[in-house]
Amino acid sequence: KKVLHIVGARPNFMKVAPIHRAISERDALEQKLVHTGQHYDVKMSDVFFTDLGMPAPDIYLGVGSGSHAEQTAKVMLELEKVFASEKPDLVSVVGDVNSTLAAALVAVKMGIPIAHVEAGLRSFDPAMPEEINRVLTDRISNLLLTPSADADANLIREGLEPERIRLVGNVMIDSLLAAREKALRLSTLEDMGLNARGYAVCTLHRASNVDDAQVLTGLLSALGHVASRLPVVFPVHPRTRKRIAELGLGASLERTPGLRLVDPMGYLEFLALTSQARLVFTDSGGLQEETTVLGIPCLTVRENTERPITVDLGTNLVVGTDPVRIRQAADRILDGYEKKGRVPDLWDGRTGERIARLYEEFLGLGKAPR
Ligand code: UD1
Repeated sequence: KKVLHIVGARPNFMKVAPIHRAISERDALEQKLVHTGQHYDVKMSDVFFTDLGMPAPDIYLGVGSGSHAEQTAKVMLELEKVFASEKPDLVSVVGDVNSTLAAALVAVKMGIPIAHVEAGLRSFDPAMPEEINRVLTDRISNLLLTPSADADANLIREGLEPERIRLVGNVMIDSLLAAREKALRLSTLEDMGLNARGYAVCTLHRASNVDDAQVLTGLLSALGHVASRLPVVFPVHPRTRKRIAELGLGASLERTPGLRLVDPMGYLEFLALTSQARLVFTDSGGLQEETTVLGIPCLTVRENTERPITVDLGTNLVVGTDPVRIRQAADRILDGYEKKGRVPDLWDGRTGERIARLYEEFLGLGKAPR
């Protein structure tokens, strides 16, 4: 029986690596890795395969960037050919990027079963492209593999059959736990002249934050305030880099004391940085989860999160995009406030193995333990 994994964008790679590894170790299923090419820069893609110890993709589609319609359609056209020739028994998709939905749409119409890893997350914000991708992918997937119980509840509320849903834990955390020691042995902090717990890390790339000039300017001013209190390392996503240039904000950011704009970083280097930070300032989904496991304070500069467990149990604070409010929240943390967190159940480094067993069970190769 053959599983086809679809990856496309940066946040997919750390989710697929542990599943791929577990399937390969158990050696009961055939598998191939298909990269749509949604992300194509070395720093947005290649470095993650090396850092995560994942083999190079078996099939690379090279669809690249474009409008949502263009990108989704291109992935669909290419994947239809791949599915027709590869004849997979199961298509495995992860997360909520355009490549995820495109792959699921092609598979469902070709009658190929779909497993969605990270099912059930909801921001309840239909203006967020990822929310559309999540809702629609879940609706047509046969196996809904969830990271936490809130996701199960969302799926049940939407009327999806409980038999399709399995709580497996957070697969991205498998990658984090496997890489943490290696990351800590790197000389990243030394090379950048930083002290452990003496700096903040920022990432921004969400369309609603960087495409809107007013929101982006506000966020960058709040960031400037944080940078006045401690060094801030800001690896800039290509989308954000483009917007900063278009708005002519580059020069003033380069001059902001304490703020260091750098290129996107590899998985291990970035983990070295986040795991020893004083504060993380982000609009990423994955980082909310990673900081929860690492016990690092996280300010999520968005109005909502599809990962409420990181707020309920973890170190995450969702502070919105109002610069005044963000400054206050950052000051509070830098003045010593500590939100005590704990790691959610099943975020234990063994999710990839649970998923591999479920795939075997689904494909008729034995019963997986619940
Ligand atoms: C995509 C995902 C988002 C995820 C993010 C992580 C969707 C709808 N969005 O957003 O959920 O959090 O990836 O990074 O799927 N670009 C490059 N080089 C690359 C990739 C992109 O320069 O390798 C630039 C291009 O100008 C492109 C822009 O970034 O137009 C946006 O890329 P795209 O894949 O459309 O979306 P992301 O913003 O990366």
